Amino acid sequence: MISLGLEGTAHTAGVSIVEKIDGKCNVLSNVSSMYRPVRGGIHPREAANHHADVFPGLIEKAIEEANVDFSEIDIIGFSIGPGLGPCLRTTATAARTLAIMHDKPIIGVNHCIAHLEIGRAITGCHDPVLLYASGGNTQIIAFLEGKYRIFGETLDIGIGNCLDKFGREAGISFPAGPEIEKIAKNGRKYVELPYSVKGMDVSFSGILTAALHALKEHSIEDICYSLQETCFSMLAEVTERAMAHTEKDEVLLGGGVASNKRLQDIIKTMAEERGAKFFVPPRQYLVDNGAMIAWTAILMYESGYRMGIEETAIKQNFRTDEVEITWR
Ligand code: ATP
Ligand code: FE2
Repeated sequence: MISLGLEGTAHTAGVSIVEKIDGKCNVLSNVSSMYRPVRGGIHPREAANHHADVFPGLIEKAIEEANVDFSEIDIIGFSIGPGLGPCLRTTATAARTLAIMHDKPIIGVNHCIAHLEIGRAITGCHDPVLLYASGGNTQIIAFLEGKYRIFGETLDIGIGNCLDKFGREAGISFPAGPEIEKIAKNGRKYVELPYSVKGMDVSFSGILTAALHALKEHSIEDICYSLQETCFSMLAEVTERAMAHTEKDEVLLGGGVASNKRLQDIIKTMAEERGAKFFVPPRQYLVDNGAMIAWTAILMYESGYRMGIEETAIKQNFRTDEVEITWR
C-alpha cells in the first residue's frame, strides 16, 4: 500500500510518500519547507500562508522523487491536529483537494501519535515510552490498555519554545535550539535555575524568566549550559518515572529538540541504568515530517479506519488518548 502524507500543524509543511511493503515502512520521498518568522514568534496566519504557497510544489517534488504515478497512491493522510488552526485548515484543504481530485480515501492523523509510530517503524522498537520534545509540544506518551496515553507533559510552553524564546532575547536567531547546543559546550559553571517538576509534569516558563535574568550576571555559555542541564534533567526524571510506572523497557525520542546530543546522552544514560533500550530515529524523522503522517495513515487505514470528507474537520486540541488504536 502506498500513502501520500501531508504534515502542517505548525512551522513545517511536509509531504511524503511511503510504501508499506512486507510489513515494513519504506519512505519513497520526504520533503518539507519550514516557515521562519522574520521577527518574533510564529504568526499562525503567516505560517498558514507559507504552507499554502509551498504545498503544490512540495507535492510535485515528493511524487517526482518517489517516482510514482498518482494512480499508484492508495490513500491521502494529513495531520488533523493538534496544532495551530490556520495551519491545520490549510493542510486539510490541500488533503481534501487531492482526495477529491484523484478519488482517493482520506485519513486524518493525530500528530503526536504519528511521531511515535514513525519512531517505532524506523528504529524497530516495539513498545516504547516516547519522550516527544519539540517546539510546541513536550509530552511523555506510551501505549497502555488499548490507548496511547500521556503520562506527563508541560504545564505551560514546550521545551523548544523555551529555547527559542530565550534565544530571541539573547540575540540568537530562530530556531535557537541548535545554536544553544553549540554555545552550551563552552559552559563551565552551573548556574542554579528553578528545576520545575510537578508530579509527572514539567514547566518551563519560570526557568526561561530566570535564565534571561541570570544573563545579566553570567556568561551566555554558562547560561546555555545550565538551561540545557536543568530542562533535560527534568525531562529525564519524568520519562524515567513513566517507564517505571508502565514497566516498559524501551525509550524512544521524538520532536526537533530530540536531535540535541546532550539530551540524547542524558536519556540514554538513564535508560542504560535501568537496563532499558534507547532509540532515536534520524533527524528527518524527529522534526515534523510528512512521512510520519503517511505511515500512520497506512496503519489506520489497514486496521479499518475510514473517513468521509465531512469527518475531516480539524481538531486543534486533539488529545492523544482520544484516538482509538485499532492497529496494535
Ligand atoms: P511541533 O511542536 O508541532 O512538533 P515544531 O515545528 O515546533 O512543531 P519540530 O520541528 O519538531 O517542532 O522542532 C523544532 C524545535 O526544535 C525548535 O524549537 C528548535 O529550536 C528545536 N531544536 C532543533 N534542533 C535542536 C537542538 N539541536 N537542540 C535543541 N533544540 C533543537
Ligand atoms: Fe511535532
